[in-house]
Amino acid sequence: MVFAVATPDVLAVPDLSAARLLIVGDVMLDRYWFGEVARISPEAPVPVVKVARSEERPGGAANVARNVVALGASVSLLSVVGDDEAGRSLQHLLAASGIDVSLHLDMAISTTVKLRVIGRQQQLLRIDFETTPSHEVLRAKLAEFASRLPEFDAVILSDYGKGGLTHISDMIRLARTAGKKVLVDPKGEDFSKYAGATVVTPNRAELREVIGRWQDNEELARKAEALRRELGLDALLVTRSEEGMSLFHAGGVVPEGAVAREVFDVSGAGDTVIATLAVMLACGASWPEAVHLANVAAGVVVGKLGTAVVSRAELLAALK
Ligand SMILES: Nc1ncnc2c1ncn2[C@@H]1O[C@H](COP(=O)(O)OP(=O)(O)OP(=O)(O)O)[C@@H](O)[C@H]1O
Ligand SMILES: [Mg+2]
Repeated sequence: MVFAVATPDVLAVPDLSAARLLIVGDVMLDRYWFGEVARISPEAPVPVVKVARSEERPGGAANVARNVVALGASVSLLSVVGDDEAGRSLQHLLAASGIDVSLHLDMAISTTVKLRVIGRQQQLLRIDFETTPSHEVLRAKLAEFASRLPEFDAVILSDYGKGGLTHISDMIRLARTAGKKVLVDPKGEDFSKYAGATVVTPNRAELREVIGRWQDNEELARKAEALRRELGLDALLVTRSEEGMSLFHAGGVVPEGAVAREVFDVSGAGDTVIATLAVMLACGASWPEAVHLANVAAGVVVGKLGTAVVSRAELLAALK
């Protein structure tokens, strides 16, 4: 007789398909123009790039949504774009990835775009287009947030500092009152607007802006715990690049060393962390389980080029 025995690794990655996530935040389009550089411009001492091909990827909160879908969970994304070609491109890319998208159109702004011009395998220039969304559009977004909350298990608020989360304190209060877990990827020096969230996930630089420098783990733990209490968070997750991550919660500290074997591209690792953490918490995982898997997922994603995502199969392979 053959018994099907679940390995501990399989158990470590529960069925994530039942999790329903709502992501709200600043979406952007990452655009790349690749070309040849054959001459210097006669107009100014700059290279002329003859564009041969272009690539586009959803960025910011939209990249968090891609990460949630890759893990097999379902996701809705609520954000604001301009009435332009970049906004339509984002809409198409996201819908094609299986994300339920609600992008409110703001006639007064251009969609946030980060355009990189690349010649001879190197980035020559980055051009950013961004404008803060209008108040009426943000109000409409808040109303949709409130009415759709019951559909979800957890909410991710992905703050890239572009102004799409003006009503973040209201969103946290509404979601927590409705019994939903709220995860925030923060920006800026004022974290008081994140008070009452379930967990906030700053990287080292973002945390330093708020609590100042720390000499060692002991000082970090003391300052992080003080901030956690001050903000009334269940947990504070500090992502520490090559030092892994540390979770501070009422039960103590959960340390995770970095697991990456090869590091190619660290951009977007923070998006993978919050997506994995949210999906795990939505499935009822404990803090140590959720943080461990988020760290493993980050270890996989930094080994890939470009703003990448991690699948369930890759997680299982990485746990072996
Ligand atoms: N150089 C590295 N070596 C190993 N692991 C890394 C490295 N950089 C990042 N990681 C993994 O990715 C996680 C998140 O990275 P980091 O703390 O840099 O977040 P972040 O600054 O928010 O990332 P980003 O904003 O680029 O998405 C880390 O906790 C770690 O697990
Ligand atoms: Mg980040």
